[in-house]
Amino acid sequence: MMVKYKLYNEDCIEGCKKYINDDSVDLIVTDPPYGIDGDTLHKHYNRDEDYVIDGYVEIPKKEYGEFSHKWIKQAERILKPGGSIYVVSGYTNLFHILDAFRDTSLKEMNHIIWKYNFGVYTKKKYVSSHYHILYWIKPRKKHTFNTYSRCGPREKDENGGSLNYQDREDVWIINREYKPGKTKNKNELPTNLLKKIIRYSSNENDFVCDLFLGGFSTAIVSIGMNRNAIGFEISENIYEHGMKKMKDVKPGGLLSTLKKPKGSIPFNQGNSWSEGELMHVNERYVEIYRKVGTKGKAIEILCEEFGRGRFSIMKAIKNKNEEEINPNQSYSKIEDYF
Ligand SMILES: C[S@@+](CC[C@H](N)C(=O)[O-])C[C@H]1O[C@@H](n2cnc3c(N)ncnc32)[C@H](O)[C@@H]1O
Repeated sequence: MMVKYKLYNEDCIEGCKKYINDDSVDLIVTDPPYGIDGDTLHKHYNRDEDYVIDGYVEIPKKEYGEFSHKWIKQAERILKPGGSIYVVSGYTNLFHILDAFRDTSLKEMNHIIWKYNFGVYTKKKYVSSHYHILYWIKPRKKHTFNTYSRCGPREKDENGGSLNYQDREDVWIINREYKPGKTKNKNELPTNLLKKIIRYSSNENDFVCDLFLGGFSTAIVSIGMNRNAIGFEISENIYEHGMKKMKDVKPGGLLSTLKKPKGSIPFNQGNSWSEGELMHVNERYVEIYRKVGTKGKAIEILCEEFGRGRFSIMKAIKNKNEEEINPNQSYSKIEDYF
């Protein structure tokens, strides 16, 4: 199936009502205006305004709360059950966004801190160099979370730490893109940040929506990753620039740039154990352990064979003790080894 995009030059609240059915979008990734009064955004984003595209529409501070409730209600309506929403927010009006989320049936998954480079330089206080990313889901169906899409379960760094664990921690250090001399939107999200969100929380051919398109980065990365894109930008000038960029976007063009996870994926993860499987894994544990001679190696083999993670296997064999496996030697209980 060829992926498509539908991007409108409209207000997102009215646009959602007009064009997007209930329960139809798999993922929303969006970055609303921050509601900072006056033209101080360039200070906040710490950038040279000369190359910034004109026409950015801000939300007046006093309207921010009501506005946030309205668009987040639309987001709740259009998301499929099991769909995810990620909202990037500064700290000034974060409380309004959180308040609006809490007024929905959506469920909080993570409050991610995105640490970026080129923070707002200050001498008499700490340098501000993070944004908040609120990750919520629409309940009632299993949500998409591709746990091993970027790092395999047994991939390690040079110190033996799990890369998968590190990649899924809720503090992300991702640099902004520095594009000297190029026109851009006021706050373009980096491609690497979007790739990460889109990979964990959607699959190819899914529908990804951005209610505040700005530099169209969500739409560009979505199409590049073979997802369908839908979204809104209220400013005519910014919209025109974005639509020009879309002409050069190749569907699936970013897929070859994605890191491939190493090793096999636990295909049974999340499924409960049947009585039969529990008996079988315990029998296999004894057989394999007698052959390979170490618990660690035996568990590694069982992970592959039963398609489960290490902790799940350890739990399943937790009552096996060493005397049962090697009756002629004296060992302590298996739990002592972990
Ligand atoms: C923070 S920027 C989005 C940046 C974007 N994520 C990117 O990576 O380039 C917010 C955008 O929302 C637009 N906007 C403001 N109010 C809007 C509304 N009611 N509906 C749609 N877009 C709106 C602004 O003009 C601005 O371009």
